[in-house]
Amino acid sequence: MLLFREKIPADWLPKMLANLPAVLVDHAHLERKAATTALNLEKYRDLFSKVEQLNAIAMEELQHFQMVLDLLKRRGIAFGQPYPSPWISGLMRSIRNGQRFQVVDHLICCSLIEGRSCEKFQILAAALQSTDPELSAFYHGLAESEGNHYATYILMAKEINETEADQRLSFYLDLDADLVRRPNPLPILH
Ligand SMILES: [Fe+2]
Ligand SMILES: [Fe+2]
Repeated sequence: MLLFREKIPADWLPKMLANLPAVLVDHAHLERKAATTALNLEKYRDLFSKVEQLNAIAMEELQHFQMVLDLLKRRGIAFGQPYPSPWISGLMRSIRNGQRFQVVDHLICCSLIEGRSCEKFQILAAALQSTDPELSAFYHGLAESEGNHYATYILMAKEINETEADQRLSFYLDLDADLVRRPNPLPILH
């Protein structure tokens, strides 16, 4: 289902496994941002008819946020400051202005963030299966939900303008491939 043009770098998983507490704090912020992003999409005229669907996504992401906070609490990990993600800001910087373009670009960016989360959660679920079954099951459960969000955002963009959405998806997949290759020492999911 996922159509990325570049694999996640080989050093990503060892970096995650060596920094799980920091990764979980980053993950909490990721879910918080996903909830606010779903609400932010409601500002676009082309998405007024999707307001309830977007609210449902925002509530689901807020639940994910709470689930990560609960996990932090159970594990005695303090909630802390977020790191900025060069990959996310690299995608977001390329959102074009203008009523016609901005909404499609924003949706495609959100879909790729959800898609990469889905992919990475699947990798984490598999890697943690024997060493940390609780966390493995947690990531397994989230992967499906983020995969659905990925598909929902792409479909919303295509419904607004299919040709534009296809062109921009191709542009963003190239950009993602370029950004994913860049070294990133921070203990963050993206
Ligand atoms: Fe989520
Ligand atoms: Fe999501």
